[in-house]
Amino acid sequence: MVAVMFPAAGSGKRMGAGKNKVLLPLLGAPVLIHTLRRFSSVHSVDFLIVIVGKNEVDEVGRILEKENGLKPYKIVIGGSERQYSVENGLKALPEKADIVLVHDAARPLISEDTIEKVISVAREKGAAIAAVPEKNTIKVVESGIITDTPKREKLYAAQTPQGFRRDVLLNAYEKARKDGFLGTDDSSLVERTGISVRIVIDDDKNIKLTTPNDLKIAEAYLEGENQCE
Ligand code: CTP
Ligand code: MG
Repeated sequence: MVAVMFPAAGSGKRMGAGKNKVLLPLLGAPVLIHTLRRFSSVHSVDFLIVIVGKNEVDEVGRILEKENGLKPYKIVIGGSERQYSVENGLKALPEKADIVLVHDAARPLISEDTIEKVISVAREKGAAIAAVPEKNTIKVVESGIITDTPKREKLYAAQTPQGFRRDVLLNAYEKARKDGFLGTDDSSLVERTGISVRIVIDDDKNIKLTTPNDLKIAEAYLEGENQCE
């Protein structure tokens, strides 16, 4: 069984909307609903764990209740950092879930194709994340001075979903907690346990809505998709 965790307990500071960005409307539905719809239409996805702030449990509960066609779900309270939010979500993992995906609720443009590929490589190899080849030349900078220019061919931007066999992810979270390690994605926790993480090449479209401009980009993408249908 495949369970997907959706960290959605941030405050959306960079979006500057005065509320959690995943609850903002995007072409008639909250960002979070767009995201959950995409996963609910993937056959092999069985269960959704939506991780939200303590004060948003009721609001999110009402929003999800109104929505038809979602896979079975549970709402869980998050923590002060994304990693702590996911950690709380893991406590609610159904016993039968052998594959666990983590996906930023703020990435509503995820394709079904990428979701399916991440599930299949995670099942086969133990760990897989969506990633895109880096287009920019990336500089390492210390105190305002460039100290390194890594070869661009080796650089990929990590996205979500990130998928793992249950034991792989649980071990990684246990080790991070023991070591006091705080990472910015789930893969970094798994990498430090020595497990090889594969990448699934994703499209450019799967952006994380971060600033107000991203909302406009997402709207344009969705309008384009609707016209194709
Ligand atoms: N997230 C979470 N718990 C936190 C922080 C973030 O579940 N304590 C979630 C966000 O809701 C989002 C995803 O993790 O879906 C990626 O985080 P980010 O894009 O940084 O969202 P925010 O933290 O809400 O935004 P900002 O950093 O601008 O405040
Ligand atoms: Mg954040």
